[in-house]
Amino acid sequence: MNKIIPVEKLEIGMEVVALDKSWLETNILFHRFRVQSREEIRKLKENGIRMVTVRIPDPQPAAAPGKETGRRPEEGESPIFREMEVLPIPTLKEWNALHDKTVAVVAKSFSEVRMGNVLDVAPLRNQVVETLEMLLRDPRKNSFLVTLSEVDDESYVHSANTMILAMGLAKQTGVPQEEIPRWGLAALLHDIGKALIPLDILKKPGKLEPNEWDTMKRHPKLGHSILSKSKDDLVRGLCTHVAMEHHERKGGGGYPFGLDLPDIDPVSRSLMVLDIYEALTAGRIYRPPLSPAKTLSYLLERELHKLDPRAIANLVQMVGIYPVASLVLLTDGRIAMITSYKDPDTHTGPVDLLAIFSKPGVPLPEPVRLTLSTIDRSRVKQTYHPRELGLSPADISRYLEMAEAEPPDH
Ligand SMILES: [Fe+2]
Repeated sequence: MNKIIPVEKLEIGMEVVALDKSWLETNILFHRFRVQSREEIRKLKENGIRMVTVRIPDPQPAAAPGKETGRRPEEGESPIFREMEVLPIPTLKEWNALHDKTVAVVAKSFSEVRMGNVLDVAPLRNQVVETLEMLLRDPRKNSFLVTLSEVDDESYVHSANTMILAMGLAKQTGVPQEEIPRWGLAALLHDIGKALIPLDILKKPGKLEPNEWDTMKRHPKLGHSILSKSKDDLVRGLCTHVAMEHHERKGGGGYPFGLDLPDIDPVSRSLMVLDIYEALTAGRIYRPPLSPAKTLSYLLERELHKLDPRAIANLVQMVGIYPVASLVLLTDGRIAMITSYKDPDTHTGPVDLLAIFSKPGVPLPEPVRLTLSTIDRSRVKQTYHPRELGLSPADISRYLEMAEAEPPDH
């Protein structure tokens, strides 16, 4: 249950879930945290916060062991960062609801730009912060969420997914936490120039003709022109660079300017990789999606020479070869979904799976839980995208929820 109280009534230990001012109006990055000191309360007052929403815990039995906390805090992490990780791990439903809202906010932003209105950054910033709060509370690295999206509004879904991946990567690579939202907002806006591409080209259900492709390739410059008019410093700065640079390639083989990697912002260099990864794993109207493992192989075999190899290595480290929700053909012929890793940071050691098919095309009467001591190429003959097996995002969510409901003992 949530309760709104004056900031004067705030006590150390209380869990704040909202403030009465938006992110834009304060210097307070997180609007959801557990109060650790009088200093934090003083900072809230200094920023003009008068009322805060606090969560009053429901009188429930304790959660299952291992469900309440994320990984152990590390040396040097700020108290708020540590506290974000001892809040309850977000449920899949919460993730899906947040993702749907982000897609809706991006869609509205595209439509505002299409109508010639000034881009309203505040709702986009809110989505970035809410997503970051969820990421910090979640040790599972929710990059698997990219597989859970329907493909309807692919530009908007792409922006939302890329934002999640970008902030996950920033967190993974030790970007200071106050910098992480910058990555998120830049990712969310990287394709905003597509708002000014004619819809018959943007939504064409097939490959583009050369002249249509030339039009499509204008979107980085259009994005630059939209974002450089913003009153928001971050949007005019980093977001504008990333919108302009994310299709440049190593050695100058990209567009619009043929810049080489050293001349490109490091955020853009990472976003190039995430942009391709998301596009391939989500699929397009004219191109079926690939599994994460096949996408990573493609990046390493076909794109390595065009991209920043460190950015690819960071992505592989973040998602692993077989992220949660991956579908794998095991050597015994069963097809199973990866549901959790004992060590989600390294994707090594024991792994839980749910066997769904006895062989391709033949579902098991009931999913069967499995635990393998490790997972690697010697145990996996093939990987699939859910769609290849006729599974919808809702099916994947259902299986994950089934697995989360009763996590097996390790
Ligand atoms: Fe793009």
